[in-house]
Amino acid sequence: MAEVRVLVVDDEEVVLASCERALVSQGYSVALAESVDLALSKLAESPFDVVISDLVMPKKGGMELLKIIRETYPSTNVIMVTGYSSINTAVESIKLGAFDYLAKPFSPAELVLTVKKALEEKGRLVAPYLSDQELPGSMIFDNIIGNSSRMIEVFKFVSKVAATDTTVLVIGESGTGKELVARAIHNNSLRKDNNFVVVDCLTLTPTLLESELFGHIKGSFTGATAAKAGFFEVANKGTLFLDEIGDLSFDLQGKLLRVIQERKYTPVGGTEPRETDIRLVAATNKNLKKMVETGTFREDLFYRLYVVPIFLPPLRERKEDLVILVEHFLRKFSDRYKKPLPRISEKAMKCLLGYNWPGNVRELQNTLERAAVSFEGAEILITDLPEHIQKESGDSAGHAPATIDELKKVKKELRERAIEDIEKEFVVNALAVSGFSVAEAAKAVGMQRTNFYRLIRKYGIKLPTGEEEQYSNNGHNHNGSE
Ligand SMILES: Nc1ncnc2c1ncn2[C@@H]1O[C@H](COP(=O)(O)OP(=O)(O)OP(=O)(O)O)[C@@H](O)[C@H]1O
Ligand SMILES: [Mg+2]
Repeated sequence: MAEVRVLVVDDEEVVLASCERALVSQGYSVALAESVDLALSKLAESPFDVVISDLVMPKKGGMELLKIIRETYPSTNVIMVTGYSSINTAVESIKLGAFDYLAKPFSPAELVLTVKKALEEKGRLVAPYLSDQELPGSMIFDNIIGNSSRMIEVFKFVSKVAATDTTVLVIGESGTGKELVARAIHNNSLRKDNNFVVVDCLTLTPTLLESELFGHIKGSFTGATAAKAGFFEVANKGTLFLDEIGDLSFDLQGKLLRVIQERKYTPVGGTEPRETDIRLVAATNKNLKKMVETGTFREDLFYRLYVVPIFLPPLRERKEDLVILVEHFLRKFSDRYKKPLPRISEKAMKCLLGYNWPGNVRELQNTLERAAVSFEGAEILITDLPEHIQKESGDSAGHAPATIDELKKVKKELRERAIEDIEKEFVVNALAVSGFSVAEAAKAVGMQRTNFYRLIRKYGIKLPTGEEEQYSNNGHNHNGSE
């Protein structure tokens, strides 16, 4: 394969140098330009696969460069680099055909990932290219499969929050991989050598709860013939995963809240409270905010948990992932059942692409397991798929993307998100990178702290405790001082 050529355009030498380092490490041939004019003369000399350009530069800006590249070098993918002040322009640039944008501050790993996405779209790189080594600081994502931009955002986000001790709430429909993500957070955290303990809130009952969570002392009740360690003890120094938190009864919510607040509990039959050092990750497929409004979920607990939310997109919104998910599961089941690795017929694949997947990845996994067990011959045919999938897929064929080209279009639309989404993501991103220090985050993006606080409030982003008080103080002190 011919060498990959990347051109970086920025008026700041440090930015050029750090981009160069990251890209050269991937074996790409890298050219640098300090202005749009210089970039244009390099482009005229020889073609580039990808151009990475700052939006705001003295004299000509990135938008001007983008317009020329789209007209003159249509096979070059352009990635825009944007600071907060130019977010609107970044969104505009996507509409004008930029491949993607990178929000400052970004890490070398993010840069490399975005370039890889751009190369993949050009057909210069074959997915899945997301190996563990390529993620920030060698993140381990076990078997979470996905290379859609939505999932890459999830990976990036997980990698940013994992090392912090902040509480994470994973939100997503059933079967989207919430537990996998919770485990990935644990496995990539400093607590990884201690326990990851799953508490299924759906099965907790008021009578069992205290003994399950807090443990009990020997002889504390009839049948307590031995002491038993509760979840809080087992999870000490590790991670406690509160699964299906929306299904916890109102009464139990209060009890749980108390332990979370005090980080102390007393085993049943015991007298001495014990301390617990846990990192909390919770998951829900319910709309907890709505539940708070209707009075079925405690507001105080909600705010304890809703520190950093991670949204897992449903499978129907990231059908680009289907191809590698299908490959992954077919391999897994052919191994498990000692059968030859099946191919999947084009018609069957189209059928999978056309279906809506209400049960998300779990439903896909089950479907493929059944097909992998029952198919005869060399290929999985459309007739090896459940009837309702064949039927619904056919019914919706007019709307659902079925060809790779259509999928690309869907991908493009996904990128054209509303400005508000991007702005919110931008703020959360800056916060996560700077360990949730507002001062640092604001500095990193070159914003006044007060303005940054305003965005935090606008999007209802909850900061870990401590920062919050600072928030209201600052709000008062600096009122009107921008
Ligand atoms: N991205 C993925 N790659 C590979 N396997 C996945 C992925 N997402 C989910 N799965 C698989 O699908 C199944 C469901 O995942 P998981 O249990 O994490 O979902 P969940 O969101 O917790 O679902 P529920 O709300 O029903 O508990 C698991 O077997 C998991 O291994
Ligand atoms: Mg689950």
